[in-house]
Amino acid sequence: MREIERLTGKLLDAFVTITANAYPGIKLATDAEKERLRERMAQMQDSGEVHFYGLMEDGALLGGMRFHDYTMKLRSTMTPVGGLGGVAVDLTHKKEKVAYEMVLFFLRHYREQGACLTALYPFRPDFYRRMGFGYGSKISQYRVPPASLPRDGEKTAVSFLTEADKAGVKACYGRFLQQTNGLMEKQAYALDSLFTSPTLKLVGYKQQGELQGYIAFTFKMCEEGNFLWQDIVIHEFVYENRMALAALLAFLHAQADQVDRIAFNVQDDNLHFIFTDPRNGSKRMIPVVWHESNTQGVGIMYRVIDVPRLFAVLADHDFNGQSCRFTLSLRDSLLPENEGRYGVACVNGRIALTASQPDDVVVSMDVAEFSSLITGAIGFNELYRFNLADISDAAYTDAIHQLFWTAQKPLCLTSF
Ligand SMILES: CC(C)(COP(=O)(O)OP(=O)(O)OC[C@H]1O[C@@H](n2cnc3c(N)ncnc32)[C@H](O)[C@@H]1OP(=O)(O)O)[C@@H](O)C(=O)NCCC(=O)NCCS
Repeated sequence: MREIERLTGKLLDAFVTITANAYPGIKLATDAEKERLRERMAQMQDSGEVHFYGLMEDGALLGGMRFHDYTMKLRSTMTPVGGLGGVAVDLTHKKEKVAYEMVLFFLRHYREQGACLTALYPFRPDFYRRMGFGYGSKISQYRVPPASLPRDGEKTAVSFLTEADKAGVKACYGRFLQQTNGLMEKQAYALDSLFTSPTLKLVGYKQQGELQGYIAFTFKMCEEGNFLWQDIVIHEFVYENRMALAALLAFLHAQADQVDRIAFNVQDDNLHFIFTDPRNGSKRMIPVVWHESNTQGVGIMYRVIDVPRLFAVLADHDFNGQSCRFTLSLRDSLLPENEGRYGVACVNGRIALTASQPDDVVVSMDVAEFSSLITGAIGFNELYRFNLADISDAAYTDAIHQLFWTAQKPLCLTSF
């Protein structure tokens, strides 16, 4: 008999051992390393923002996972979102549907909590896509010499940030969140770690005492034994306005005499417009004349878990002033209670769900693609073109595209 339980005490110890075997890269070899992780897990759980659960069979723990209670900006509204991390299964019980049962529990748990959406960073995108998670925005890594950045911003307004700036960072991030789509509210643990990490440097731009942008970065040595050759790696880049951006870039420009390249890890496809030379130093060419400017990665994935609640959450969102009605036919093989035919009535951009009508145009897709569409990671036209969505009357393709379209792809600066 299998059961899923909260992990505390001895069960948390057992989960640390499962994690050590499932993620050899984390290097949890010694008892001291394992104890440190156990303590950190217990601390995270005490914060109330993170919960550990595991699957038990006949008194033995076969696998575990970590839940994060997030609040996310979805288009124009804030909504609770469940984050899943640290999924790990006992090596001797792999391929016995332990992960399957745990993911299903996770989805139902957040449905019961009133969330309409979940998110995770996949170890393998295909594994979770089959489970109905859709791709979010990709990340780009640009690697440019500091001298390639503009230098005319107000560098003198940039300074190191200290604990005294914590409220300022939270407020600045919060205002940035309001301007954008997809960000999770910054939780206490993530905010603290910006200030407590022994390797992270934090600098910010202030205008009349108000923090309006910041970067969190580390130095990365380029070669063993060469203490003068280093890069800057940017982990978090937040700016509320163009003055903040210009000032932070001028600060980075000023590092040119000691830093080889600045690695920007950002969900921004257009950052190359800023650099005097956008090439990333790899010298790789894509035939015939395309210079490699950035490398990209697929990461954060989203999954809708409750369609009626999703549209209730978005009841005041303006879907681009559109007026139309259609039936959304959603496939969800993992979570059948989410699957269905939903009548969507959109009047002047405001959507209300109704019963599906026999003469409705029918728009159909899998929950994975719908999750990408509703978060703004992709438009309906592309899904249709890629044969990832269908419509019973192609004449309505543009109307559906216009309705779901947003210029702001979802951003995520939260690691979990
Ligand atoms: C990756 C890992 C979690 C997988 O765990 P697992 O328990 O072996 O996986 P499962 O047996 O549950 O495999 C998933 C099952 O879900 C099934 N499944 C997936 N989507 C489904 C869907 N929509 N409907 C029905 N079944 C579905 C798959 O078919 C598979 O079953 P099968 O093997 O019988 O085909 C485990 O190998 C592990 O711990 N790896 C190391 C750590 C890691 O990388 N974790 C992931 C971090 S995000």
